[in-house]
Amino acid sequence: MTAKILSAAPVVDKIKNNLIQRCAALKTRGITPSMCVVLVGNNPASLSYVRNKKRMCEEIGAHFHLEHMAQDISPDDFLKRVQNLNQDPSIHGIIIQLPVAEQLKHLNLPNLIDPSKDIDGFHGLNTQKLYSGSRDLSLLLPCTPKGIINLLHFYGVELKGKNIVVIGRSLIVGKPLSMLLSNFDATVVLAHSQTKDLKQLTKEADIVVSAIGKTHFLDQSYFNPSKHTIVVDVGMNTLDGKLTGDVNQNSVKDSVGAMTPVPGGVGPMTVITLIENLIFATEKQIKG
Ligand SMILES: NC(=O)c1ccc[n+]([C@@H]2O[C@H](COP(=O)([O-])OP(=O)(O)OC[C@H]3O[C@@H](n4cnc5c(N)ncnc54)[C@H](OP(=O)(O)O)[C@@H]3O)[C@@H](O)[C@H]2O)c1
Repeated sequence: MTAKILSAAPVVDKIKNNLIQRCAALKTRGITPSMCVVLVGNNPASLSYVRNKKRMCEEIGAHFHLEHMAQDISPDDFLKRVQNLNQDPSIHGIIIQLPVAEQLKHLNLPNLIDPSKDIDGFHGLNTQKLYSGSRDLSLLLPCTPKGIINLLHFYGVELKGKNIVVIGRSLIVGKPLSMLLSNFDATVVLAHSQTKDLKQLTKEADIVVSAIGKTHFLDQSYFNPSKHTIVVDVGMNTLDGKLTGDVNQNSVKDSVGAMTPVPGGVGPMTVITLIENLIFATEKQIKG
């Protein structure tokens, strides 16, 4: 049996329609949700990510503000400008676009943003809520993990009691995701480059999430066809100029039950979840 493709498109459409309505409702109360991206310098990849965020904001009716800073901005000036944004009541969500310039790298960037405006979900006070066991998806949680949960919920994937292997232990994906899945009552193994017998683990798993960053790392030899494993591919890699995932889709398609595509899977879920965080943040800020 060929694997079912868990495409982001219908999930994104559903969430987007909901966000358009909530944004319109906020506007009738005189509030336009406003996202601010702090960009230092002119890194071409960053500029492209910023354009995507701007487009998504505009599509749901939110306002977008770019706080563009010079590559050689001093740490003091940078801190002052971020502080001004924190205090500006017309801005509801702030992101610091990475990478930042060398002279700013020693700053504790996630904790510089007011936690109520931290739509990336990286502030210590927001990640702490993950550790305390919350499964409240209206919290400002990291966007890729929350987007994956949104996608799995949409496709009716049960998490309770499931054995899940998350491969990759980064602070933006693997670690927060493993915590969030555990909060939803899954039994989670967080694997990494030093994990022994990875294949043995993935062959036994109900769900495998790959956030490694290596093109086509997972092939059919990692799966047991009788398990009908659900595979979530977080990887965003390039091969011959094309976007590729960690999973070799051609190789695994007859050995797994379902899989997210690349492109068109976790990537778009991350972006829409960021916009969803902006709307949650705005709604909570006006409630006080
Ligand atoms: N779709 C999206 O929205 C989205 C969002 C974020 C990231 N990504 C993509 O996800 C991928 C991972 O990025 P990231 O920032 O989360 O991770 P990362 O910081 O690049 O770290 C990679 C992780 O993979 C592990 N790893 C490397 N080789 C391995 C191997 N042979 N076997 C098992 N584990 C291995 C590493 O283990 P060690 O810790 O032992 O080194 C590390 O934990 C990249 O392709 C990135 O572009 C996509």
